[in-house]
Amino acid sequence: MGHIIAIDGPSGAGKSTISKLLAERLGYMYIDTGAMYRTAALLALEAGIPLADGQRVARLCKDLEFSFRVDGDLVHVLCDGRDVTEAIRTHDMGMHASDVSKNPEVREALVALQRALGRKHDAILEGRDIGTVVFPDADVKFFLDASLEERARRRYKELREKGETVSLEEVKETMRKRDINDSQRDIAPLRPAEDAIRVDTTGKDIPTVINELILHIKERIS
Ligand code: DC
Repeated sequence: MGHIIAIDGPSGAGKSTISKLLAERLGYMYIDTGAMYRTAALLALEAGIPLADGQRVARLCKDLEFSFRVDGDLVHVLCDGRDVTEAIRTHDMGMHASDVSKNPEVREALVALQRALGRKHDAILEGRDIGTVVFPDADVKFFLDASLEERARRRYKELREKGETVSLEEVKETMRKRDINDSQRDIAPLRPAEDAIRVDTTGKDIPTVINELILHIKERIS
């Protein structure tokens, strides 16, 4: 098994940008586990399966093949060869993913895929439960966070750049609900692992955060 770096935290904390860049810098495979929950929600909606029907959604997920292709700033998410990048990155799909992720059967199916993917390479996995559940023995664990205001502003900017017409207030409200949904669910709730390095990204630019993380990684992985 290669080295594993876990990057957890709430939405908008900077996980995706940071994980992608770190993976490129270190030559690690990048695995976006949130994209997997978003894809599960997408496939369920397309198949007309209610998001709360854990067993049927899990059956859809069981043998999926995911890959993540980093292309500059963008990460293409491929699921069984289909590029789902645009379909899963909408404002609504974030909330649907949060809902679908409450099902234990769905988590079990996707965690198995995440472990199988991560074991093949040196990998950076970003998500909510990587350091606590998926890879509790990860070589380095980070928990990124930022104020709700800043996280909402970042997500709002991203969505607007993609042409979505949402208001900042709407984004902030959904994010607040998603934080509650994700941190108060019974299974694998969003919380830092005891041995996670906590990094507050509020007011910090990307290179500053990357440098901070690289220092920790160098200390732990020679
Ligand atoms: O990181 P994201 O916004 O793409 O994640 C979408 C949702 O998926 C998030 O609200 C909760 C869920 N999720 C999860 O439960 N566990 C993970 N490891 C990653 C995401």
